[in-house]
Amino acid sequence: MGFPKFCVISLILLSVVILQTAGATLTTTDHEFLEDLEKRAFQFFWEHSNNGTGLTLDRTRTTGEAAAPGTHNHNIASIAASGFALVSYCIASNRNWAQKNELLTRTRNTLDFFAHRAPHKEGWFYHWMDAETGVRRWSSEISSIDTALLLGGVLTVKQCFKENEEIVRMATAIYERVDFRWMLNGDANYLSHGWTDENNFLASRWTDYSEQTMLNLLAIASPTFNISWTTWYALKRDYRTYKNHRYISAVPPLFIHQYSHAFFDYRGKRETFSNFSVDYFENSVVATRVQQEFFAEELSGKWPHYSANLWGLTASDSADGYKAWGAPPEDPTTDGTVVPCAAGGSLMFAPEITLPTLRSMKEKYPHTYGRYGFADAFNPATNWTNSDVLGIDVGITLLSAENLRTGKVWAWFMANPEAQEALRRVHLLDVATSTSSIMASTNMPSTVPPNLDTTVTQTSSSVLTKSSVLLWLFILSAIHRTM
Ligand SMILES: *[C@@H]1O[C@H](CO)[C@@H](O)[C@H](O)[C@H]1NC(C)=O
Ligand SMILES: *[C@@H]1O[C@H](CO)[C@@H](O)[C@H](O)[C@H]1NC(C)=O
Ligand SMILES: *[C@@H]1O[C@H](CO)[C@@H](O)[C@H](O)[C@H]1NC(C)=O
Ligand SMILES: *[C@@H]1O[C@H](CO)[C@@H](O)[C@H](O)[C@H]1NC(C)=O
Repeated sequence: MGFPKFCVISLILLSVVILQTAGATLTTTDHEFLEDLEKRAFQFFWEHSNNGTGLTLDRTRTTGEAAAPGTHNHNIASIAASGFALVSYCIASNRNWAQKNELLTRTRNTLDFFAHRAPHKEGWFYHWMDAETGVRRWSSEISSIDTALLLGGVLTVKQCFKENEEIVRMATAIYERVDFRWMLNGDANYLSHGWTDENNFLASRWTDYSEQTMLNLLAIASPTFNISWTTWYALKRDYRTYKNHRYISAVPPLFIHQYSHAFFDYRGKRETFSNFSVDYFENSVVATRVQQEFFAEELSGKWPHYSANLWGLTASDSADGYKAWGAPPEDPTTDGTVVPCAAGGSLMFAPEITLPTLRSMKEKYPHTYGRYGFADAFNPATNWTNSDVLGIDVGITLLSAENLRTGKVWAWFMANPEAQEALRRVHLLDVATSTSSIMASTNMPSTVPPNLDTTVTQTSSSVLTKSSVLLWLFILSAIHRTM
């Protein structure tokens, strides 16, 4: 019988396909681990997003309970978590984790709420809202970054459910209503962090390269209220050095390298100006590796449980309250805590270190792995385990895992013409084609206005997907002939 030999051959071919589509070699066990982690994350969004408003709770217990009436967190919803929830419906639909019609209903209700009923200011939304009623909670600000993360979800469902006219229409209306120019509050380049009813605009502005790049890009490519492309080049690039690594990092928490990268596909792209030719995807890869090395080589001296497979700090809960911590350098309040979404949100960047880390956390500390995946944080030194999960931390882990496995979140989001247009306007172009010729030019001025006529080159991801499809067809026809 030729069957076993045929199996071996098709397995080899299959692994080539996996390698091509995911950009990383994932074993069956890796996929099983990620499938379970992602499914639990989806479960969080499914169970804790309000059916009427679509608003997602900011946090719940790891066991699934929501904050009781009368408590501080009761019905507190986060619009950023609601953006991640929308993406989770695309992933669930694609992976058949829930009924398509129920996912569509939830998505439609969410968009209907934000398009027609949610309080807003020039299209921008409050950071915290009541999940049931949508009213402003905790005297929160109208938030530019949180609205941008919500828009990430809105534009993702616009593409993944593009056959649904109502979804497309409402998603378009929500994005096109956002007045990005208003959020400049008179500045030429830097958007404000937000606005409050009491104090008007917040004084702080988005001046650094950090988690908000999608906010800037969505503003630059807005069909209705676009701001100047110069915003991109006005962002400060704050370089840090660790050993032989040099990378941009305004602050130590890892999430600043993750959020916008879950939507915008920065892979294989560089700017084409003489002074700017950063590969931002690679920058996030380096930031992840630096953090792992710093824990394994430096912090493990003080906390021996830290190792190459047990590390990670990014903004999270701690035994001592919420902390915006990270590394390097060492945060003075570091106490041995591990934050799983540090590695989780970087699955798409450095799976060779983040995946073994998460798998080993689950194996060694099974009590930290609950209904929605990992507890937000835990401390192996004291055996403190956070009782909560946070929507945005569950969300970034889910999106990063899916991008690692299939690149689908990138593919859906980047199918929006505005996402492509944004990269074109700031001249973040495909490395392989455009950059080499432009960079080779000897008389590059130090700053050059983007040439708006440059045509967008095909991204490497879509090229990969297409060649994978061709390879699949080839294998299928080969199998057919063998049989
Ligand atoms: C919300 O929708 C889900 C899925 O359609 C359903 O299972 C659940 O019972 C609904 N919850 C409420 C409170 O209506
Ligand atoms: C907005 O986009 C248009 C069309 O591409 C462009 O001509 C205009 O300069 C942009 N506005 C700003 C403020 O940059
Ligand atoms: C740590 O705490 C968990 C419960 O939160 C318990 O199941 C586990 O046995 C504890 N581990 C140690 C080493 O005490
Ligand atoms: C651009 O690079 C040139 C030298 O290569 C330098 O003199 C100039 O200051 C740089 N400009 C900026 C904005 O960094």
